[in-house]
Amino acid sequence: SIKACLFDLDGVIVDTAKFHYIAWRRLANDLGFDLTLEQNEQLKGISRMESLDIILSIGGITLSKEERLARATEKNLRYLELCKQMTPNDVLPGVRTFMDELKQLSIPMGLGSASKNATIILNSIDMLRYFDTIVDGNRITKGKPDPQVFLMGAEDLQTKPENCAVFEDAVAGIQSAKSAGMLAVGIGVKTVLAEADIVIAGFEGFKFADLH
Ligand code: BG6
Ligand code: MG
Repeated sequence: SIKACLFDLDGVIVDTAKFHYIAWRRLANDLGFDLTLEQNEQLKGISRMESLDIILSIGGITLSKEERLARATEKNLRYLELCKQMTPNDVLPGVRTFMDELKQLSIPMGLGSASKNATIILNSIDMLRYFDTIVDGNRITKGKPDPQVFLMGAEDLQTKPENCAVFEDAVAGIQSAKSAGMLAVGIGVKTVLAEADIVIAGFEGFKFADLH
């Protein structure tokens, strides 16, 4: 049975995926090529530097380490600028209701995100207070699809992996949850998140009991 829940941030709690896409696309455009929505799908759940490397390979561009760091920093500044427009109203539909239910049931909650901006984002949408632990891009050494991010979360919540449910919108995140031995709930479409145990379009109407 499920005793703890682990949530991805971007695309699950809040739709920052659209801001990541705008900022990455700008970077690609600056370098003289475009980034399609389909290519952007591959970047979901992937760390900032790994995402940059994927984009550079799409454009067939090689940059020095210093240039790569500068581009990544520039992308992040643009991304954070876009994120400034976010308010608690930007929490995705049904998320707060679902997390309120978990709180009421005393189900511990953890964040499992590749983002180094997780705390900033959670603060700006007033969702930090729901989490008993935050595992983010500043703590992990191996990104999704490696299971580390969710295994750390389970350990922090003192819950066995098999008793954890993971909510994820990224293919790499579903793979991470599955290799951690957890129940993987995909947020999105079945065709993309084929490896998930359950796929839902969003949290609206979703109840803890639906996990069983
Ligand atoms: C993931 C996003 O949650 O975090 C990726 O899905 C993003 O798109 C990654 O690149 C790293 O985020 P950040 O905020 O550290 O650049
Ligand atoms: Mg995500």
